[in-house]
Amino acid sequence: MATVRSRIVGVGAYLPERMVTNQELAAKVETSDEWIVERSGIRERHLAAEGEFTSDLAIAAARRALAAAGLSGEDLDLIVLATTTPDNTFPATATRVQAALGMTKGAAFDVQAVCSGFIFALSVADNFIKSGQVRTALVIGAETFSRILDWQDRTTCVLFGDGAGAVVLKAEQGAGNGQDSGILSTHIHSDGRHYDLLKVDGGPSSTGTVGHVRMVGREVFRHAVANLAAVVHESLAANDLSPADLDWVVPHQANKRIIDGTARKLNLPAERIVVTVERHANTSAASVPLALAEAVGDGRIKSGQLVLLEAMGGGFTWGAALVRM
Ligand code: ACO
Repeated sequence: MATVRSRIVGVGAYLPERMVTNQELAAKVETSDEWIVERSGIRERHLAAEGEFTSDLAIAAARRALAAAGLSGEDLDLIVLATTTPDNTFPATATRVQAALGMTKGAAFDVQAVCSGFIFALSVADNFIKSGQVRTALVIGAETFSRILDWQDRTTCVLFGDGAGAVVLKAEQGAGNGQDSGILSTHIHSDGRHYDLLKVDGGPSSTGTVGHVRMVGREVFRHAVANLAAVVHESLAANDLSPADLDWVVPHQANKRIIDGTARKLNLPAERIVVTVERHANTSAASVPLALAEAVGDGRIKSGQLVLLEAMGGGFTWGAALVRM
């Protein structure tokens, strides 16, 4: 049956200029390049400059995605921005992006699902498009995670980085089958029983402070592999597909071992997985669109290919989106 699809018509990304290696971190906290590479696969990360905000990263990524789509801010009906590190507690960072892009109609708001934020934001925008409420949407994942790290805590501060990625979605009529271009389905989940395993120990309502990231790494790791494998299966089953049908998987870039563990569970060959974690570290909501933009930009991901995006984060939250480019 004919249906409306959200087609990805432009992708863009932005990384702050300053790159920090593991060796530089080892001069500040008791760690080593060897330990970080062996446990996480991370070699370097980009960190926002003083005075450079999440909105600045988001605006830069959004401008690139709009340019790739041949559109301007005036063409947008909706901005959904996923972030855990907004410029201010309120207003939504998305409204600052909206003003900078010269978009004066429609709505702009933030979505909070930590590292799964981009998948959640994509799902929200896709549903607005499928329901006919909007025709053109900008979905952004943007973070300055460096601002909520405890730089004395070696178990967390070595794992994260800053960055932003964005996609432009446009409503397009599809045949309603798996050959359609655009988002074929999105699948999002959360389980609040695990709230304390990965969280920030502050907030406007609890402590009145911003707080720092706290994580029970081993538990997060265990849940991540199980939940990601399950949601990948769920998205393939919903579309009568198997892992062999996928041209590319663009996973959340938290840890190379989580990416490898999930791939093994799904029998996915390493050549079909986009990996940027060694250069970006974990950029939370920005990681999936950053990796997507890189693989589209260098020509690996081509028009017509089937791509699976997946992520897992604090809450816990997790999700996947199956997209024909
Ligand atoms: N440098 C050197 N040693 C360290 C460091 C460090 N940066 N951090 C911890 N250690 C030490 C620990 O103190 C511990 O020492 P001990 O044995 O003397 O107590 C030892 O290394 C082992 O620590 P573990 O935490 O058991 O190490 P593990 O093998 O579990 O690796 C890691 C830790 C990398 C955090 C892992 O658990 C992990 O990847 N978890 C997933 C977390 C994740 O990726 N979160 C991202 C956000 S959630 C998401 O996006 C999915």
